[in-house]
Amino acid sequence: MDISNFPDAAGAANEVRQMLGGARPGVYVLTFGCQQNEADSERLLGAARSMGFLPVEKPEQASLILINTCAIREHAELKALSVIGQFKHLKSEDPSRIIGVCGCMSAEPARVEQFKSSYPYVSFTLQPGAADQLAQMVLNAMRSGKRFFSVPEQSAKIAEGIEPVRRFRHKAWVSVMYGCNNFCSYCIVPYVRGRERSRSREAILKEVRQLIADGCRDITLLGQNVNSYAGSCDFPTLLRDVASLPGEFLVRFMTSHPKDASPQLLRVMADCPKVAPHLHLPLQSGSDRILREMNRKYTREHYLGIVADFRRAVPHASLTTDLIVGFPGETEEDFEATLQVMRQARFDMIYSFLYSPRRGTPAADRPDQVPDDIKRERMQRLLRLQDELAGSIAAGYLGKTVRVLSDGPSKDGASGLYSGRTGGNKLVHYDGLPDDIGRFIDVEIDRCEPFALYGTAVRTGTDAG
Ligand code: SAH
Ligand code: SF4
Ligand code: F3S
Repeated sequence: MDISNFPDAAGAANEVRQMLGGARPGVYVLTFGCQQNEADSERLLGAARSMGFLPVEKPEQASLILINTCAIREHAELKALSVIGQFKHLKSEDPSRIIGVCGCMSAEPARVEQFKSSYPYVSFTLQPGAADQLAQMVLNAMRSGKRFFSVPEQSAKIAEGIEPVRRFRHKAWVSVMYGCNNFCSYCIVPYVRGRERSRSREAILKEVRQLIADGCRDITLLGQNVNSYAGSCDFPTLLRDVASLPGEFLVRFMTSHPKDASPQLLRVMADCPKVAPHLHLPLQSGSDRILREMNRKYTREHYLGIVADFRRAVPHASLTTDLIVGFPGETEEDFEATLQVMRQARFDMIYSFLYSPRRGTPAADRPDQVPDDIKRERMQRLLRLQDELAGSIAAGYLGKTVRVLSDGPSKDGASGLYSGRTGGNKLVHYDGLPDDIGRFIDVEIDRCEPFALYGTAVRTGTDAG
């Protein structure tokens, strides 16, 4: 692609409008995967907006459709491929429509080849985090009608200066670093997201200050392993700096790798009331042998030590984790060790995944893959145990009053109610008022379920809402 002749944002907007006959064109972004991808999608939308595109609700309304993909498990990839397939008819309906594939699948050489050869209605692929190259890709596709499939190669630079289009006003993601250096033996992220790069402390603080000024109340600092943040300070210092900014808000962070979760991090959590009392600390497995083969670089004992320190430093906080069931070679005994750590750590919530072999990762080539039926049977047992544990943790909230940041009317079936999240990230349904959204509301809990609490807002005469 000749990139020598690309105008600035205003010029790009003019050119796009002319090519599409004057009207303000629409952009639609569909997001798969983790919060990093959600954050990237907001930047992709921002980049498209500065080219004159207007975010729309439905793909049929859009002249530019972007699919921000995830490669973490086979299921995520198959889902994305099936959705991309469904967009074929939109391209036949309006051949001037541009469809681009972004995100982690577009950094896998074999997938890029597949998009090129089997998805003729896809105009380009764009590397994860490369929102700054979107304008070139789109203009190139519109001008020449040619398709462009970038050679997977991560750029070391971080594109600052793209104003994201945020989905919510009261909560936001702020990436502090990109990429991963850890090469856990099952994981594709280091291959598709490249090596760790940290944003500057100044850029992060500037973004957070602006969010607070705009009314944001819940800010999540994001990175694959935030504890290896390496700007002009380390992560605990950055977290303390953010939590010391004036304003009424909470700051969260994810993800913390247990090998790097330091006493300093726990100190900041204990010291700063604006740091949400929630630690997401992926365990993956409770078996030392499996942890070693996963290349996780900690033992079960080290992990439980951090949990004990965390419980002491931040009492009444939430602890959540990620677990993989059926890593190659996992025996019944290894799996039992995971259940045992679950009983000891008492996680408020777990994200559990069936191991999915990823092309190019060391674990995928192992001959001792665990059969699917065994994986599924273990998963059922793990979920049953977690239900029990979460039920007994939730019961402890009965009669207590918790502070909730209201998200507005509840989704998932609790009709007529509003919902929100506590500092510990617990889902709470309660009797809300339209004014509540984006505000902290005290709620007295009168019913507890493993995955949600129910209660009544405590409203005083003076601060109703
Ligand atoms: N950086 C984070 C996690 C990113 S991926 C960390 O290190 O904890 C989110 C989760 O997906 C991982 O924690 C892991 O539990 C899961 N995961 C990653 N690769 C997987 C695979 N091949 N199969 C199943 N689950 C996987
Ligand atoms: Fe994947 Fe491990 Fe990096 Fe997390 S730390 S993104 S699991 S390689
Ligand atoms: Fe998926 Fe990429 Fe996130 S593989 S989990 S979208 S980093």
